[in-house]
Amino acid sequence: MIMSGFVCPVCSGALENRDKSLVCEKNHCFDLSKSGYVNLLMSQKSGNHGDDKIMVHARRDFLDKGYYSALRDKISETVLKFSNNSSVILDAGCGECYYTSDFYEKLQSAGISAAVLAVDISKNALACAKSRAKGIEKAVASIFHLPLAEASCDIIVNVFAPFCGEEFSRVLKKGGIYIQIIPLENHLWELKEAVYDNPYKNEVKEYAIEGFELARCSELHRKINLGSCEDIKNLFMMTPYYYKTSEKDFKKLDQIDSMKVSTEFAVLAFRKL
Ligand SMILES: C[S@@+](CC[C@H](N)C(=O)[O-])C[C@H]1O[C@@H](n2cnc3c(N)ncnc32)[C@H](O)[C@@H]1O
Ligand SMILES: [Zn+2]
Repeated sequence: MIMSGFVCPVCSGALENRDKSLVCEKNHCFDLSKSGYVNLLMSQKSGNHGDDKIMVHARRDFLDKGYYSALRDKISETVLKFSNNSSVILDAGCGECYYTSDFYEKLQSAGISAAVLAVDISKNALACAKSRAKGIEKAVASIFHLPLAEASCDIIVNVFAPFCGEEFSRVLKKGGIYIQIIPLENHLWELKEAVYDNPYKNEVKEYAIEGFELARCSELHRKINLGSCEDIKNLFMMTPYYYKTSEKDFKKLDQIDSMKVSTEFAVLAFRKL
C-alpha cells in the first residue's frame, strides 16, 4: 500500500494511492489527471483559479532561459541544508515546479530520499509542470486550506506565492523550516522605470514572522541581461505589477528589445518555534 503525502480534503483521512486515484478510508476518491496531478480543491465552482495560461506560459518561457538560475540554485542549496532522508517538503504555490524540480533532483543526486509535495491553485500551472520531475506529488489546492495533516511537514518552500501563517504553522512540525523569498529594494528597478513615470522602490519589511525564528538569510544581487522584447514582457507578466498596469503603460515595453535589469532577493529560512 503506497500512501500519499496529502490527506483527504473532505474528511482529512489518509489517502492511499490506488491505480490512478487517491482514495481515503471513507472512499472519497480523487483521480490523477493525465498531467500527473490530483485535484484536491474543495471549491471548484468557478473552474479555473490562480494564474491563467498566458501568465503560466510567460513564466515558463522566461524561467527556462535561465535568467533566475542563481535564485534557483540558492533555493535548492537552502532546502538541501535542512533536509534528511525522512523529510517531507512542500512547495506551496509551486507554479510550473521550476524550483521544485531542481531541489527534487538535487536531493536525489545527494542520495537524500525526502518526499516532495507541491500544490498550486492553478490547474494551468500544474499541467505545465507535467514534464518536470516525475517523483513530485502534485495537487491542485489552496495555500489557505492545505490538504496536509497537522505537523506533517518538515520544510515549506514559498517562492512568490501567497502567505498564510496559520496554515503553514499548522502543517509544519515544531522545529520545521519555512523558506521564503523576498524581493529587495531595487528588484527590477530598470523594468519599472521603463513602464512608470514615477516608479517606487520596493518596501522591504523586517525579516520576522510571529511564532518563527530566523535560521538563515542570504541575499542575492545580480544584473541580468534580457535579450529580447519577449523576455522583457514575460518578466513583467510574472510580477504583481502586471495586474495593476494599464495597457498603455505595458505597451511601452514593445519598443525595447534588450535591457539590463537589477534582480535582488533575500532567501530566508525561518524555524517554527
Ligand atoms: C508568482 S507565481 C510563483 C510560482 C512559482 N512559485 C514560481 O516562482 O515559479 C504565484 C503562484 O501562486 C499560485 N497561487 C495563487 N494563489 C494561490 C492559493 N491561494 N493557493 C495556492 N496557490 C496559489 C498561482 O497560481 C501561481 O502559480
Ligand atoms: Zn475522505
